[in-house]
Amino acid sequence: MKLTKFVDKLPIISTLEPTKKSNHLTYYEVVMKESWHKLHRDLPPTRLWGYNGQFPGPTIDVSEGELTHVKWLNELPPKLILPLDTSIHHLDQMPQTRTVTHVHGSVTKPDSDGYPEAWFTRGFQETGPDFSREVYEYPNNQRAATLWYHDHAMGITRLNVYAGLVGMYIIRGEEEKALQLPSGEYEIPLVICDRTLNPDGSLYYPSGPDEPIPGAPTPSIVPAYLGEAILVNGKAWPYIDVEPRKYRFRLLNASNTRTYRLSVNEDVPLYQIGSDGGLLRKSIPTRQIVMEPAERIDIVIDFSEFEGKSMIINNDLGVDADPEDQTNNIMQFKVTKPLKKKDTSRIPKHLTHIPSLKQNSIKTIRNLKLVGSEDAFGRPLLLLNNQLWHDPITEKPQLGDTEIWSLINVTNFTHPIHLHLVQFQVLDRQPFDLEKYNEDGSIIYTDAPISPAENEKSWKDTLAAPSAQVTRVIAKFEPFTGDYVWHCHILEHEDYDMMRPFTIVEKEDPETS
Ligand code: C2O
Ligand code: CU
Ligand code: CU
Repeated sequence: MKLTKFVDKLPIISTLEPTKKSNHLTYYEVVMKESWHKLHRDLPPTRLWGYNGQFPGPTIDVSEGELTHVKWLNELPPKLILPLDTSIHHLDQMPQTRTVTHVHGSVTKPDSDGYPEAWFTRGFQETGPDFSREVYEYPNNQRAATLWYHDHAMGITRLNVYAGLVGMYIIRGEEEKALQLPSGEYEIPLVICDRTLNPDGSLYYPSGPDEPIPGAPTPSIVPAYLGEAILVNGKAWPYIDVEPRKYRFRLLNASNTRTYRLSVNEDVPLYQIGSDGGLLRKSIPTRQIVMEPAERIDIVIDFSEFEGKSMIINNDLGVDADPEDQTNNIMQFKVTKPLKKKDTSRIPKHLTHIPSLKQNSIKTIRNLKLVGSEDAFGRPLLLLNNQLWHDPITEKPQLGDTEIWSLINVTNFTHPIHLHLVQFQVLDRQPFDLEKYNEDGSIIYTDAPISPAENEKSWKDTLAAPSAQVTRVIAKFEPFTGDYVWHCHILEHEDYDMMRPFTIVEKEDPETS
């Protein structure tokens, strides 16, 4: 269905009020509920699942070191609103509506991290094997950054997220405050995602591939899904009226599969100041920014020279040539508001100091292959190191160790790889001969290692691992021990079966070993 673009005002996401707050603890309650939302002027309301019934959910806004507890409550109906493939992960033997919330980028203990099998149903009536607590604890002892929260339930993350279970989680710090970046009403989170909407307003999600595989289950999980409409803060192709001044936008790609390459169609100055793990070293003037699923991009746009003009954030990966494809645009800015007061905000060149992990002694180098195979029905099955989720844990860094993970992508497409708990640094990417690999399994490099892009030279928790390249990241595994996960953040891949546990173990005592 073809929708008129730029007719709905961009919704500003509300900030969540704590249920209780004292000097040493901030406590929130968030209820997952079904609710109906108008996603576009010309569509009837859409049935969605949202945190507090909102889509996106309310923003959780905390300070560095602010101990925070959140009780995530499930009051969702018993049946999913999207087609469920029960052939994977024994889902036929489980309740349909299972949820568990993960704060993406959070440094928290395993029992509060949203382990996929720590799920729970409405009112905690039923719980998964790893469920251990109702109230999650977030120490927020980490750098100020734009995090986000989303559902992570085993085998149905793609459906729960597509139904609306996403929200922003912002950690603020003093260092950042001192920079005088645009703030208050001039700092706006933008949650970008794609959804396909039926003419009656309902969400569309495929119940199987376009060409069904004979003998495969129905519904059947698809290996990727791109929605037809681009939503920002829960509206399809919205617009925002802005003043001729600087604004800070915290962008999140909350899409299941879609990657964006953002650019603005006017010569408006655009500066990237942050990424997944917070501020960059320097602000980077830029024309184009690629955003893989789950990546965050913090930018400042200066509209001061553009009074009376309007401009569009485009997605250069949308297919212009295809008249049916509408995804070449994201949203519109209209510089129509009068300047309320003098803009005293700044875009400092130098932002912060980031120590390099390269000086650390490297305890382990892991070669981890991103591979494609087939399941028993002949459906594509994407794996990490040829292992299924349920295979025994193989990645066991010791607490405090620095490791290099070499992600060897032998599939034909990019996978956005995400590690829980840690922020890593990107070392490099090196292309190899994929044809040769497919013949005899050998990795023959075809070029020298390529340094990461300017905007990847800071802390990252999600990173593009392109096809036919070895992407090397370095991370220090701390400060907690226990089970976490790493996975591809294309949710269709994560659910089946491109996700693996890893466990951080106590440091071995050199005296006794
Ligand atoms: Cu954004 Cu494992 O999550
Ligand atoms: Cu995460
Ligand atoms: Cu993937």
